[in-house]
Amino acid sequence: MKTWWKEGIIYQIYPRSFQDSNGDGIGDINGIISRLDEIAELGTRAIWLSPVYKSPQTDNGYDISDYCAIDPIFGTMADMESLIKESKKRNIGIVMDLVINHTSDEHEWFQKSRRRIEPYTDYYIWHKGKNVVGKNPYDKKNFPNNWTSFFMEGAWEYDDIRGEYYLHLFHKKQPDLNYHNPLVLEEVKKILQFWLDKGVAGFRCDVINVLWKTSLADGKKSVMLTGLEHYKCQEGNHEILRQLRKEVLDKYSAIAEFECFTVGESVMVNLEETKLLSDEARRELNMAFYFDHLEVDRVFARFVPKKFLAKELLKRLTKWQQGLDWNALYLENHDQTRIVSHYGDDSGAGEHGSLWERSAKLMATLLFTLRGTPFVFQGQEIGMTNFDFTDLDDVKDIETHNLNRLMKKFCFPAALRWKWLRLSSRDNTRTPFQWDGSSGAGFSTAAPWLGINANYKQLNYAAQKDDPDSVLSYYKKMIALRSSSETLKYGDFKPLAATNSLLMFSREAAPAEPAFVAAFNFSRKRIKLNEDARVLLQGKIAASNIGRESWDTTNTHLDAWEALVLQTN
Ligand code: NOJ
Repeated sequence: MKTWWKEGIIYQIYPRSFQDSNGDGIGDINGIISRLDEIAELGTRAIWLSPVYKSPQTDNGYDISDYCAIDPIFGTMADMESLIKESKKRNIGIVMDLVINHTSDEHEWFQKSRRRIEPYTDYYIWHKGKNVVGKNPYDKKNFPNNWTSFFMEGAWEYDDIRGEYYLHLFHKKQPDLNYHNPLVLEEVKKILQFWLDKGVAGFRCDVINVLWKTSLADGKKSVMLTGLEHYKCQEGNHEILRQLRKEVLDKYSAIAEFECFTVGESVMVNLEETKLLSDEARRELNMAFYFDHLEVDRVFARFVPKKFLAKELLKRLTKWQQGLDWNALYLENHDQTRIVSHYGDDSGAGEHGSLWERSAKLMATLLFTLRGTPFVFQGQEIGMTNFDFTDLDDVKDIETHNLNRLMKKFCFPAALRWKWLRLSSRDNTRTPFQWDGSSGAGFSTAAPWLGINANYKQLNYAAQKDDPDSVLSYYKKMIALRSSSETLKYGDFKPLAATNSLLMFSREAAPAEPAFVAAFNFSRKRIKLNEDARVLLQGKIAASNIGRESWDTTNTHLDAWEALVLQTN
């Protein structure tokens, strides 16, 4: 079925790093409003806004202390209302980040829950300790179970006031809500209604497949995460999503100008689990983010590197492209690293003719020729690279610091720890947006909350805006190509060929519609195409990241980091 959220692209904004308007070194809502024209020019249909709610900011806003208030560092509710209004004028919907697995421990509910004030007593997952080794509540052996958190710590914290432990699958300042208490879901429904009444277009749902804890028994021991089997994708979780859809979202869709939209972040999922979350007929989510395609060159989620193979990427893309009815397509977000530094080559960042430029454009070609809704993370459209920090002290992300502590515990040498942390740190995508070459990169007039990459002098929005050969112009071209083509939006995906560095696929719709073949060289070496590949690769140029104007049977090689899309009929 065709619908608005399948047609356009969704642009993700990480507010604290996007645009500062009041000179405090932190991005804010008025800063976003001042950049809406740039966002619209890209071809954006909706903005996914990372959290701007009131929060102590332990996890940069993913720890919410009031869902119906704006944190003063980002502005006021009036600013938020004007963002919704100004976006609407440009036909852009606002997608709020819905963080409902946990709140901040500074949320009123938690403060009352720890004091057993009704009706909040059972809003969180409280439990007595095991008391197996004396009475010391801080001894891990006494914790209610052996679960560990996504941030690589124990998942329980002892609360002196209540005299019990509470569960936190993330930071200890992010206590998990208790969905076995029906009042909690009622509160969540009110939050959704509050924002829908303000005119938002939908929600990106944070870690949405771990809400329901079926049991609190010990989990199977794992270096990364113990306890997962007790709460990942449980039937109770599906029931929560169905209720939210039926009782809130569908009701709004019936009266709103456009259908309310949801995309879930689903952690540690396989294809079958993702289908259950996002299959339209089940009426849960519209689509779900998964991580498989970004972990081709990693083990232990995204933490330990291994060799990248294009054929492995194609295998994984094929599985999801063909396995799901509709994909949430992304190559970057605020928890990942910059794609040009990850699967690409960031050498010569900001320079014409560099491998950086080619590989950044290759990534755009890939993103907009797959089937699904493309998400672009702020700065991706100008090819921003990973941070250039040389010291862990420059990194703010709590996950990076926890991982460092864990590796230290296992006696990993400092140089290796830093090497791996640099490859995985979430701060890689969180450095401030590089708007221009002035001091502060046009992001802020004050010292920024997180260091700006020194390459901003040559790699910035202003330098690319009017340059027809820039990465930014290429993003615009590719987005326009996708939006003008029914085949690229809705056609079938078929894998064609792959080697260690070559990847080829086709997109086809009805015979009367144009069909495409796309080929990518994920390496800095020129590669020779074999006979089979050459037979498949015929047609007229629809996109070329190196400015090719024609392609015929005399062409036998793909250049370094070349991406080529041909219309074959
Ligand atoms: C996923 C979010 O994307 C991430 O930034 C956050 O730390 C965790 N969920 C916890 O909310």
